[in-house]
Amino acid sequence: MTMVLEDVRGQPLPAIDVFSLSIKALKDHLDRNVRIQNNVLDDINTKWVLTVPAIWTDTAKQFMRKSAEEAGISRDMLTIALEPEAASMYCQTFPSPGCRDISEIGSRYMVVDLGGGTIDVTVHEKNPDGTLKEVTKASGNGCGGTSIDDEFIQLFDRMFGESFVKSLKSEFPESYLFLLRNIENIKKVFQPEQIGMVNLRFPYALRNLCKSHCGKSIEQVISSSTERSYIELFTDKIRIGPMFVKSLFPNTCKTIISVIKSVLQQETVPDISTILLVGGFSECKMIQNAIVTAFPRLNIFLPEDPGLVVLKGAVLFGYKPDFISSRISRYTYGIRVKQPFDETTYDRKRKQIFEGKTYCYNIFKPFMNINTRIPLGHTIEKLFTTHSKSGCLYEVFYTDRENVKYTDTGECTNMGKINICFLNPDSKKRKMKVVFNFGDTELSVLVVDLESKTEKKEFFEIQR
Ligand SMILES: Nc1ncnc2c1ncn2[C@@H]1O[C@H](COP(=O)(O)OP(=O)(O)OP(=O)(O)O)[C@@H](O)[C@H]1O
Ligand SMILES: [Mg+2]
Repeated sequence: MTMVLEDVRGQPLPAIDVFSLSIKALKDHLDRNVRIQNNVLDDINTKWVLTVPAIWTDTAKQFMRKSAEEAGISRDMLTIALEPEAASMYCQTFPSPGCRDISEIGSRYMVVDLGGGTIDVTVHEKNPDGTLKEVTKASGNGCGGTSIDDEFIQLFDRMFGESFVKSLKSEFPESYLFLLRNIENIKKVFQPEQIGMVNLRFPYALRNLCKSHCGKSIEQVISSSTERSYIELFTDKIRIGPMFVKSLFPNTCKTIISVIKSVLQQETVPDISTILLVGGFSECKMIQNAIVTAFPRLNIFLPEDPGLVVLKGAVLFGYKPDFISSRISRYTYGIRVKQPFDETTYDRKRKQIFEGKTYCYNIFKPFMNINTRIPLGHTIEKLFTTHSKSGCLYEVFYTDRENVKYTDTGECTNMGKINICFLNPDSKKRKMKVVFNFGDTELSVLVVDLESKTEKKEFFEIQR
């Protein structure tokens, strides 16, 4: 919530503003397009679905929810869909001739969602009732399509120097973005068997800046650089040898393949014969080729418009959020508690005395374990008592490590606070029930005040 991003000129902007304005731009775009068809999307009846990678943390999902709220989408009308699930649901609902197998009852297949920032891998199984269950928890990393763009831009760093690229960004941000778009375009059209040079159109500002910054023409910079053997200039284009473009891909391909391999090797993952490739980056021919070569025995299936499949699936998910019947917990969740000190269990250094009794504070008390199968709508109830006059605060932590004992060792992340307010002037013992709803794309909490019998849906408080 306090994260600051930098724009292309290096100017700081709060991440929440960038995300909420981006969501708002999409929302406004849709509003305008619908209005022109003489329709209005009213705020009361319009449901919105926002997609996120399945490997995102609960904190990241909360952040997206908060961004959507700031963009004018009401909390109750927002569903968060997980991208590989949305894609899988679309392919189940509209199976293409090439992937009929995956819609057979009992079929198990891997969904590999290759996006811009993330790769997201999971395994789905088709249930007899037509829904899907997640067989293994989603895994992946940040090695999506933009990692190729980043490698490409390093060529400019090497040829012209990092300070030159920095000046291009700060003095001519539009030109830099023009260059990035053209780089992205090369990634989109490049073929593994390509033998001819590829043309990269460069912005005009590059010429002038090169003169003023390097004191040379672009031609002179290129001919004196170590890259000269595979680069030449032709009018407003830089012509690049195919071997260089090819050399941008192996690191990313290796990472994607190793994530797929590690999922295939998991004990809980049964024999898989099909990989469903989705997400914009799966349209990349170099990536497709690397995956087909690495897994010759698997049936690799790429649906039509693999990038759009996530989007279309998200709309279907908005109508049928119960299509995924169970998921596997990606974390162990727990609360922070204090307990009477027990020499055999707790670290002696943690012994503290309060009102004559010894306690251990900051104990991580798990109530949901990693790798647990969580059916749709699954809840966990916890009873708490308090004597507080005005309310109480619960803090939830999560971790992907085993045997975490304390909340303050850096091994787990604070998910946020649930703040429950009530009036209890006489400090009477008050019983509260907290119901954690795990069986959804996000964790939500229902708090029941057992004294007044009032129920309140609470959300984790994330501060701006
Ligand atoms: N034909 C193509 N060839 C290669 N890459 C492509 C192609 N089309 C799109 N991409 C790349 O796919 C990425 C976008 O994919 P997608 O829309 O699935 O991402 P996202 O879901 O927004 O990101 P994330 O999943 O990381 O949140 C971009 O890096 C884009 O350059
Ligand atoms: Mg994606």
